[in-house]
Amino acid sequence: MLIPHTFRKGIVYKIDKIRVILWEDIGQVCSMNGYVNTVNKSHKMLKLVNVSKVYTIGKDVIHALENINVDIDHGEFISVVGPSGSGKSTLLHIIGLIDIPTEGKYSINEREVSTFADRDKANLRSELFGFVFQDFYLFPRLTAIENVLVPTIFSRKNAILNNSTNVMKMAKIDNRIDHKPSELSGGEKQRVAIARALINDPGVIIADEPTGNLDSKTAEDIMKIFKYLNQKKKKTIIIATHNELVSSYADRIIKLKDGKIVEDSKMVNNT
Ligand SMILES: Nc1ncnc2c1ncn2[C@@H]1O[C@H](COP(=O)(O)OP(=O)(O)O)[C@@H](O)[C@H]1O
Ligand SMILES: [Mg+2]
Repeated sequence: MLIPHTFRKGIVYKIDKIRVILWEDIGQVCSMNGYVNTVNKSHKMLKLVNVSKVYTIGKDVIHALENINVDIDHGEFISVVGPSGSGKSTLLHIIGLIDIPTEGKYSINEREVSTFADRDKANLRSELFGFVFQDFYLFPRLTAIENVLVPTIFSRKNAILNNSTNVMKMAKIDNRIDHKPSELSGGEKQRVAIARALINDPGVIIADEPTGNLDSKTAEDIMKIFKYLNQKKKKTIIIATHNELVSSYADRIIKLKDGKIVEDSKMVNNT
């Protein structure tokens, strides 16, 4: 597919002295040599090969993840399920560049992550990924809209391109922009957190037990927002949960047990 690069929004930066562009619309990283106008879609966006994560505390060795092999493509809606302690959060942290594997390879658009300098990795993290957590992590003294704008402090992307009112509309919380977190319900707080995750226009949303603190009706409302973001806004969504209702919204389920993938299945006709 040829797309004149002047018609597309992208930012240019350097990784290991190679100029790269992060295309905003698909979160695609391409090496750049003069013009780059071809997008190679033949490979998977995120690829983990034999990834393991071991924690050592004193004499205890904990195998949080063991030999994980998984490919994630643009536009997928994935639910990572498994009991508490099975490695869901660890997997999400590695995928979202918050943590690094002890062994194995992780590549983003065919670039091995371990070769990225720390600063480039941090930039890629804030530009490619948006995070949502069970506990919302809102700043209590800031209003909803101020909370949504926090990630723009660390980003070089132009916040006007994807402004705060717009993302608050996408998360259906634009009627509460001036409320402080203490004046919001749990579901409303999570909507603010989702709007915040969207502010840098990430290609991938990573959500760790996003409905863990919500009642089932509110949980469904939140899942409908993720579904909308996946189907209409073409975001790749990766959600960790042990709630069956939540995982039923996904198109693909990756089941973990004791740090290993015990099932990886695609749902048919899940709309
Ligand atoms: N920072 C850490 N230090 C030591 N052990 C950890 C750490 N983070 C997670 N673990 C351990 O790794 C395993 C997987 O944890 P986690 O990924 O949080 O599972 P889940 O999210 O499925 O509940 C658990 O046994 C947990 O105790
Ligand atoms: Mg967890």
